[in-house]
Formats: sequence, structure tokens, C-alpha cells
Amino acid sequence: MGPSHRHTVLHTFAAFLLGTTLVLSQPSPQVQKNISAAIQAAAKAKTIDYTAFVNPFIGTDNFGDVCPGASVPFGMAKFSTDLTGYAPAGYVTDPTQFIRGISPLHDSGTGASSGSYGNFEIMPLLCPKGFDTCTTTLLARERLRKNNTDLASPGYFSQTLNNSIQIEATSTRRAGLERFTFPKGSKPYFVLDLANDLPGSFSGGVMDIDPTAGRVTLGGRWEPSFGPGLFTYQAFACYDLLDNGKQTLDEYGTWTGDTFGLDAKALGQTHLNLSVNLIGGPPYQSGALFSYANEPEQVNIRVGVSFVSAEQACQNAETEVGTSSFEDIMNQSKALWQDKLSRIELDVPNTPPNVTEMFYSSLYRSFLTPNNATGEGQGPFANTTSMYFDSLYCSWDTFRTFYPLMTLTSPTDFANIVDNYIDGWRKTGWMPECRSNNLPGWTQGGSDGDNIVSHFAINYHDEATELGVDLNDLYSALVADGNVNPPEWNIHGRQVNVYKQSGFVPFAAYDPASTGRQTREGSRTLEYAFNDFGIRQVALLMNKTEDVTTFTNRSLFYRNIWDPDVKSDGFQGFMQKRFANGTFKFIDPIDCSPLDTDENRACSLTDDNENGFYESSSWEYSFFAPHDTAHLIQLMGGNDTFVKRLSHYFSAGYYAAGNEPSFQTAVGFHYADQPTKSVDQVRNVVFSNFDITPAGLPGNDDQGAMATVLAFHLLGLYPVPSTSQLLVVSPFTPKYTVHNAFLNVSTTVTVQNFNSKSVQKTIPSGVAAYVKSVTVNGKPTESRCHFDFYDTFRLGGDIVIELTDDKNSANSCAGSLPESISTGGFASTR
Ligand SMILES: *[C@@H]1O[C@H](CO)[C@@H](O)[C@H](O)[C@H]1NC(C)=O
Ligand SMILES: *[C@@H]1O[C@H](CO)[C@@H](O)[C@H](O)[C@H]1NC(C)=O
Ligand SMILES: *[C@@H]1O[C@H](CO)[C@@H](O)[C@H](O)[C@H]1NC(C)=O
Ligand SMILES: *[C@@H]1O[C@H](CO)[C@@H](O)[C@H](O)[C@H]1NC(C)=O
Ligand SMILES: *[C@@H]1O[C@H](CO)[C@@H](O)[C@H](O)[C@H]1NC(C)=O
Ligand SMILES: *[C@@H]1O[C@H](CO)[C@@H](O)[C@H](O)[C@H]1NC(C)=O
Ligand SMILES: *[C@@H]1O[C@H](CO)[C@@H](O)[C@H](O)[C@H]1NC(C)=O
Ligand SMILES: *[C@@H]1O[C@H](CO)[C@@H](O)[C@H](O)[C@H]1NC(C)=O
Ligand SMILES: *[C@@H]1O[C@H](CO)[C@@H](O)[C@H](O)[C@H]1NC(C)=O
Ligand SMILES: *[C@@H]1O[C@H](CO)[C@@H](O)[C@H](O)[C@H]1NC(C)=O
Ligand SMILES: *[C@@H]1O[C@H](CO)[C@@H](O)[C@H](O)[C@H]1NC(C)=O
Ligand SMILES: *[C@@H]1O[C@H](CO)[C@@H](O)[C@H](O)[C@H]1NC(C)=O
Repeated sequence: MGPSHRHTVLHTFAAFLLGTTLVLSQPSPQVQKNISAAIQAAAKAKTIDYTAFVNPFIGTDNFGDVCPGASVPFGMAKFSTDLTGYAPAGYVTDPTQFIRGISPLHDSGTGASSGSYGNFEIMPLLCPKGFDTCTTTLLARERLRKNNTDLASPGYFSQTLNNSIQIEATSTRRAGLERFTFPKGSKPYFVLDLANDLPGSFSGGVMDIDPTAGRVTLGGRWEPSFGPGLFTYQAFACYDLLDNGKQTLDEYGTWTGDTFGLDAKALGQTHLNLSVNLIGGPPYQSGALFSYANEPEQVNIRVGVSFVSAEQACQNAETEVGTSSFEDIMNQSKALWQDKLSRIELDVPNTPPNVTEMFYSSLYRSFLTPNNATGEGQGPFANTTSMYFDSLYCSWDTFRTFYPLMTLTSPTDFANIVDNYIDGWRKTGWMPECRSNNLPGWTQGGSDGDNIVSHFAINYHDEATELGVDLNDLYSALVADGNVNPPEWNIHGRQVNVYKQSGFVPFAAYDPASTGRQTREGSRTLEYAFNDFGIRQVALLMNKTEDVTTFTNRSLFYRNIWDPDVKSDGFQGFMQKRFANGTFKFIDPIDCSPLDTDENRACSLTDDNENGFYESSSWEYSFFAPHDTAHLIQLMGGNDTFVKRLSHYFSAGYYAAGNEPSFQTAVGFHYADQPTKSVDQVRNVVFSNFDITPAGLPGNDDQGAMATVLAFHLLGLYPVPSTSQLLVVSPFTPKYTVHNAFLNVSTTVTVQNFNSKSVQKTIPSGVAAYVKSVTVNGKPTESRCHFDFYDTFRLGGDIVIELTDDKNSANSCAGSLPESISTGGFASTR
């Protein structure tokens, strides 16, 4: 997603102008030093610690919205500090922002402008004048950090306040440990927040302090960060304060406050019952306040969270953390990360160091979300026996590259998430589109979960049952999304009634039976058509002959909004909005592109988006028919015009690296039989938009969407969603091995004639970087532009990609083009 997309583009430009005078980098320089040292040491290491190459701070500036907090893979708990200002994931590098505390629930890479979660924040305090003088309210307690002391690595997070109190955290799936180090000789105080979350949406809650057990239980209801405010979710936490009896409480009590003078503390009180709150919060603030006896220098606090009950939050802390030490839990988390990260092993000694760091940091974020809340379902998912994941935020972002990357290495993880999508259909009638905070979030495109589950079915149908996925249910869920118009299509399903009637999503159409934001008709048509292609693929797989016909036909509906008469920059024919009577509604293809000069134009979800394309321009979205690019090329006037047009799109500045519909455009030249242009373009995209700094993402990570498009670029591959086809581009590394433990196969890609000089924005002439030939297990592939998952990473063995510096001789696929429906492609599934 990324509602702040246009804003982000402008901001990137501003940061670029200000250049190096704006060094706001907060992570301790030691973080980068250690990563660089680890990369250098890899040449001599016997076993490689891949976690040492991860920089969790990439994407914590420049609106990347990445959470650098402590988390296990797919952790429901992500412990991070919460800062003031624009900080949707809690933490940001900006040193002028204040820390309000550390809290156990966060999302990573979601652009909900007010933030997501941040509930149950705790802040260490020094109150030299005692309990009644403690700074408990949000404003009073906030504090700057000590500059350049922030630390993070997989499973670990730390920040130091400017009063020298260090905050550290490590975690399990639903619990964690916090360690606070105070200056010698001070009395540790803590304020714990019942009401506040990042969006300030408190809708009521209850808190209890049990001073004997040293336990605080709390929970309540809040509004979602990205979805209808009509719904609220519940969350609970359990704070154990005594470190298994090693610490002694001194004072304890409750507090309430607001920003207009209320600042009350109640020493000795143990109960807050604010069960209903209709005005939101802040302004309403409340929580616990306590101190420790004997001036301990270090205080350890155990935290459990749950979406079911406070009791379950305590159980989660007991079963997942128990009496383990901080180092134990940190080591466990690190081991879980090592397992995920070692699934793709780059030849680190021979790979440019920045590529290694970008790659493993991306791979890290590809396993950071969605949040595994299995056993923690609420609402329709209470007590579900299926897997349950929170923060599917949004499928529109993740179907393109996030799940295809998971496909290479991790069918078990993928199957768990697919099971959860299907369960959405079982419990609500449609698959979830953009679940956020356990609630339905806003739909951006179509029912893009269709392309996620179909990608799984196409690539793992033989193993589906063993992986716990029922293909019949999967298919029923797809058909429901494709055929059943929900009463409100803003949160799941699609506006399919009028779409089927018109053959496109009509603008300003009479729809007597469903509601939803009457916007984005252009991009919705394109996404709906691709959703239909996903359904068609599974229909084909399952021999549903009639459905194959229907959904193949519908997958071509993208053609129905092609207006051959619209011109822009000398190119003719663009996707346009269209009335139900067939008349096109003219939209300047430049509108909502990075070149749009109207900064106030609505391009996102708001009801004044007249542009017709979601966060995007017609220039950008007119390239979107990944299943039928060959026909698109024809519409655009043939290969030469297409190549000119795509080149112009990049050189003129219509490409938006931080926007998902742009992802596939960089490899579009493959479809016009000019693969060397894709190679050049991908190098340019990577080095113009990504690096190893906190500002190293082109905007919102979108739950790993940016991470995974970058990972594919670095591997020299690009996936076609809902198919088993992979395009071959040009790797940024001489060699890598992809392990698939479930299939029990490993595949090594060796890049012959790899030249590290090619790994820059512009490949110098005379440097090998262009694909001359591809062989798989000794046999040349039929084309050097693409191969199939079934013939490669599913089988294991050796893939050799031979590069050449002779660009001209390499500028064709020397075999078939990547498939398109209209030229007989995707005729069967594997
Ligand atoms: C960096 O590495 C050194 C030496 O291994 C270690 O002591 C230190 O804790 C590391 N620092 C960070 C920030 O990881
Ligand atoms: C620490 O930050 C606070 C604001 O949060 C500021 O008032 C105070 O002067 C700072 N202290 C130091 C030692 O920089
Ligand atoms: C941290 O750096 C910022 C920006 O340079 C500066 O405004 C602030 O005073 C510094 N904070 C401390 C505690 O030194
Ligand atoms: C909180 O108060 C409400 C009524 O104000 C009551 O119904 C509820 O039982 C109370 N809950 C607790 C946990 O005390
Ligand atoms: C954690 O792992 C480190 C490095 O492998 C090891 O030295 C240390 O003993 C481990 N600590 C615990 C508590 O297991
Ligand atoms: C879930 O199961 C528990 C234990 O059987 C039960 O107490 C609870 O009421 C159930 N919750 C819902 C919402 O069905
Ligand atoms: C999710 O959590 C469940 C319950 O602990 C576990 O069985 C499953 O392996 C987890 N899946 C992933 C992808 O983390
Ligand atoms: C579909 O038909 C093919 C060819 O007849 C057969 O091999 C396959 O098992 C069938 N698949 C299903 C799901 O019925
Ligand atoms: C799709 O179906 C419609 C009506 O059922 C038909 O008019 C159209 O020609 C079909 N399109 C294709 C590409 O087969
Ligand atoms: C189609 O409807 C639009 C909007 O009502 C109108 O402007 C246009 O003239 C109509 N076209 C035809 C051919 O009737
Ligand atoms: C583009 O080039 C390919 C390969 O030479 C050719 O098969 C295809 O027909 C061309 N497409 C068009 C629309 O001319
Ligand atoms: C590696 O990244 C850093 C930070 O973006 C940059 O300064 C440096 O030039 C990069 N090195 C190479 C060789 O690209």
C-alpha cells in the first residue's frame, strides 16, 4: 500500500537536494562496522552467520516505515520504541523526534499514516522527587535519545535515552523480554500505558496490578490503522515485573491524564476499569506506575501479548519465555533467523558487499511479516483451527514479488499463510484483502489474494495436501472472490456484478446492490482481470473446463479499457476510465505520475480520486497485463514502438520505484525480445532507488514488497505471479544456492563471466552482464529469457547463466519469449 506515495516521491527528491548535509543517521556506526566486518570475515568462515549481514535499520528513514524492532520470523510481537512524528512502525531515525516508550506490538512497512499498534507502551523514568512527581502523560514522559546509539540485529533491539537509561528487547512469537539499564544509584520507575496506541484510538480497556505476583494485566479495544473505524479489535498484555523473584517492587499505583491539566496519580491503587471510551485517546490517558526497591542497575521485565485474553497473554509469556534469560531468548531468535536466511546462500566473498547487505536485509524483511497470530484469532476467527496471520497489509502489495520469493525456498511457510487466506473465505465468505490489526482493511485493487493462493496452487499442487492446504477449498475461495459481489467491496471481494455486465469496472455506474468507493475504475479493471487470470490458472489445473473458458475470457477484460485514441508524449493508446455506455472518460495519462505538477490531486483511496488509477498514472498502469504482454505490445503498435515507449517511460520519469504497479516494468523489454534493455534498466532501478542506509528504500516497504522486488533484482530473476514462470535477467552476484528443505533440493546458480564492475547503475561497455546462454543441469534452456520453476528450483541441481559483454549478440531471447495468453502461452499448468 502506501497512501503517502506521492508525498514520498517528493520527499525523496528533497532529501536528494539537501544531499550530505542532512546526516540524520541514528543507528550506532558500530552497526554498519560490524556488518562490513562480518562480510569481510565470510571468506574465511567455516559456517556463515547470515544474521550478521542484516541491517534492520534499512527503511527506517525516508518513509520506509520499516520496524527495526526485535521479532522472530513472522513474529506477532515486534518490540520497538515508539517515537513522535510520522512513525507508523514506532521507530524512526530522525533524532529530533521523542521516544515515548517501548511496546510489544508493531507492523513493519505499512504506510497507515497514523501508525499501527504501539499499544501497552512502557517507559523507564527517573523520578528523583518520588512517585507523585513522575512524568506519566504522553507529553511529559517523552524524551530524546542519545544520538547514534541505536542498535538492532535479528532478534535484538536497543535504544539509549539521553538520560543514559538503556532500553533493550528480544522476543518470541507472542512474548519477549525487556531489559532496562539505569545509571548507578538511581531508583528505577516505569510508566505503563493502558490506553494509548499509535493512532490514538482507545475505545475502552481494563487494567489490574497484582503487587504480590508482580504482574500487571491489561487489555482493551482499539480502532484499526487502515480500515473502517466502525470496527474495533481487542488486544491484551501481561507484564511480569519481578524477573522470577530476583527483583522487588516498591511503590505501585495507577494514573490518568490528558493534555488539559489532568495529571493524577493514585499510589496503592491496582485497578482501572475504563471499559468504554467514545472519544478516542489521546486525549484520554491512563495506566500503571511502579518503582523498584534496592536501586537495581538492571531491571528485566517479561511481556506476553494476546489477541484473545489477558490470561492467554500471561500463558504466552510463561510458555514461550518462561524463566529463560535475555541471552537465551536472543540466541533462540537468532537461530530461527539463521534458518530462514540460510535458505539462499550467496557467494559472499565474491559478491559486492553492498549487494550482500541489501540482499540479506531484504530476505530478513521477507520473513518479518505477516504476523503469525495462530491461536490468537478474534471476531470470526476466534478458535479457528486454521493458521491465522495478522497484517496482510495489503495483498495488492505482496502478490507481485513477496509470495513468489517465498515460493523458491519456503513452501511450508507459504502454505500456512495460504491456509489463513482460505480460512478467511470459510469464515467471512471472501478471502481477506488487506487485514490490518485483525480487522478488514481497505481494498486497493481487486481481490489480489486470488493471485497469492493461485501462485501457491500452481507451484505446489502436488504437495498441497501434505502442506495442509485443501485445493478444493482453495478453488471455492477463488470462485467466491470472482463471482460473488459482496454488499460492500471496500474490504474484500470485488464489484463483480457491474464488472461482468460491462466487461470492465464502469465509471459512474448504477449498482443497486453493493457499496464501495466509486473510484479507481481503470486500475480496478486491470487488477480484476489479473485476479481472473489467477482463478483461470487454478481452473486449468483442476480441469474445470467451463471456468477455464469464463475466466480466460475475463482475464482479457483489461483490453476493454484500452482507449486507442488517447495520446501522450507522442505515444498513442492508453488505459482509461469508461462509462457503462462504453464512452471513455478522458484522464490525462500524466495525472498522478511523478511528473504530475498538481500536488493536490487525489490519487489514493479518497472519494475525490477522479484519476481512475490507484496511486498511479495511466502511463504506469497501461503496462499492466502480466499474463498477456504480447497483446499489449500489439495494442501499443508493435515491438519497436513498445520498446521506445517503455524507454521513454523510464527516461521521462513516469516510473515510480516505490509503487507496486511499476515493479514489472523494469523487465518489460524481455517481452519485446530485447532482454539486454531489461538488464540495463534493472541495474539503474536498483542503484537509483535502493542502498544500505536507513533512507535506502524508495518509500514504504509495504510489508516486504520493496524488499522482495529488490531481492529478485539482485538474484537476476523476476516472477510472473500465478504462474511457474521466472524471467532470467542478470544476477548481481557470481553464485548462489537456493535451498528448499521441504522438497529436499538445492539449486546452485553459477554466473559465468560475472564481473563485479557490472554491479553499478550504468554497466560500462565491455563489461560482461548480458545473458548469452542458460543451461540447467547441463542442458541448454529453450530460451535465455525465462525458465520454469518446475524445470529448475523444484528439481535442484545446477543452473549456469553465461554472460557476455557483447550486448548486440545477447539482445534477443534466442528462443521463445516469456509467455502471453494471446500467443498461446499458459496453455497448460505443470
Ligand atoms: C560488534 O562486534 C563486536 C565484536 O564482535 C561486539 O562486541 C559488539 O557488541 C558488536 N556491536 C554491535 C552493535 O553489534
Ligand atoms: C534530553 O531530552 C530532553 C527532552 O526530551 C531535554 O529536555 C533535555 O535537555 C535533554 N537532556 C540532555 C542531557 O540532552
Ligand atoms: C541529536 O542530534 C540532533 C540533530 O543533529 C540534535 O538536534 C540533538 O540535539 C542531538 N541530541 C543530543 C542529545 O545530542
Ligand atoms: C467494568 O465496568 C463495567 C461497567 O462500568 C462492568 O460491566 C464490568 O464488569 C467491569 N469490568 C471489570 C473487569 O471490572
Ligand atoms: C548465545 O550464543 C552465543 C554465540 O553462539 C554463545 O556464546 C552464548 O553462550 C549463547 N548464550 C546462551 C545464553 O545460550
Ligand atoms: C473459544 O474457545 C474457548 C475455550 O473452549 C471458549 O471459552 C470461548 O468462548 C471460545 N470463544 C469463542 C468466541 O467462541
Ligand atoms: C505459525 O505459528 C504456528 C503456531 O505456533 C506454527 O505452527 C507455524 O509453523 C507458524 N508458521 C509460520 C509461517 O511461522
Ligand atoms: C486433470 O486432467 C489431467 C489430464 O487428464 C489429469 O492428469 C489430472 O489428474 C486432472 N486433475 C484433476 C485435479 O482432476
Ligand atoms: C468474452 O465473452 C464475451 C461475451 O461472453 C464475448 O463477447 C467476447 O468476445 C469474449 N472475449 C474473448 C476474448 O473471447
Ligand atoms: C455515456 O454516458 C456519459 C455519462 O453520462 C455521457 O457523457 C456520454 O455522452 C454517453 N455516451 C453516449 C454514447 O451516449
Ligand atoms: C515482437 O518480436 C517477436 C520476436 O521477434 C515476434 O515474435 C513478435 O511477433 C513481435 N511482436 C509484434 C507485435 O510485432
Ligand atoms: C555502498 O553503500 C554506501 C551507502 O549507500 C555508499 O556510500 C557506497 O558508495 C556503496 N558502495 C558501493 C561500492 O556501491
